[in-house]
Amino acid sequence: MAGFCVAETAVAAALDPFVAAAEEPLVRACFAAQQADEERHARFFARAAHLVGARPEDAPPAVRDLFERRLPETAAALARGEATLGDAVSLYHLVLEGVVFAAGQEALVRALGPAGLTGMREGARRVQADERWHVGLGVRCLQDAGVPAPAFDALLSDGAHAARAWGGEVDGRLAVRTHRRRLKILVPVRPI
Ligand SMILES: [Fe+2]
Ligand SMILES: [Fe+2]
Repeated sequence: MAGFCVAETAVAAALDPFVAAAEEPLVRACFAAQQADEERHARFFARAAHLVGARPEDAPPAVRDLFERRLPETAAALARGEATLGDAVSLYHLVLEGVVFAAGQEALVRALGPAGLTGMREGARRVQADERWHVGLGVRCLQDAGVPAPAFDALLSDGAHAARAWGGEVDGRLAVRTHRRRLKILVPVRPI
């Protein structure tokens, strides 16, 4: 819960340069809609974490490193024009949302039910549903940018490695398998 508090706050704060860098008005509108989702997620997790007594500083150090250092650095590079939108989407949507979030959310939803926290579980499931379209948006952006299919394999490996940030209780293998299936379906949509 502490990790999600940190992560959702970070992803909500990182989207401004994505909105600014999107050339297509529809893509820009999608990033703006995503930003509203992320701000809502950050409020939900801040409230949930408060109720269970979790503090952002309790988040695993590796999660904090991904979301409080690596993501803001990439977003800042995008804002300066030193990273492309494709570079930033690769980290944000494919690695962090596609695998790291997915792995953590699976574990969180699984843990909340037996703990009797059914309202929180329902909230976490709704966040999970939002994250699915965010990842789809990211994949579509990369397709439109002409990122070749083999590059998606490298992003999957990066994601599998990054998902270890949660610690031993979170098994990222299911998230990686699901993400791989999703990419197989989506990647051929537009010939590269
Ligand atoms: Fe989110
Ligand atoms: Fe998201």
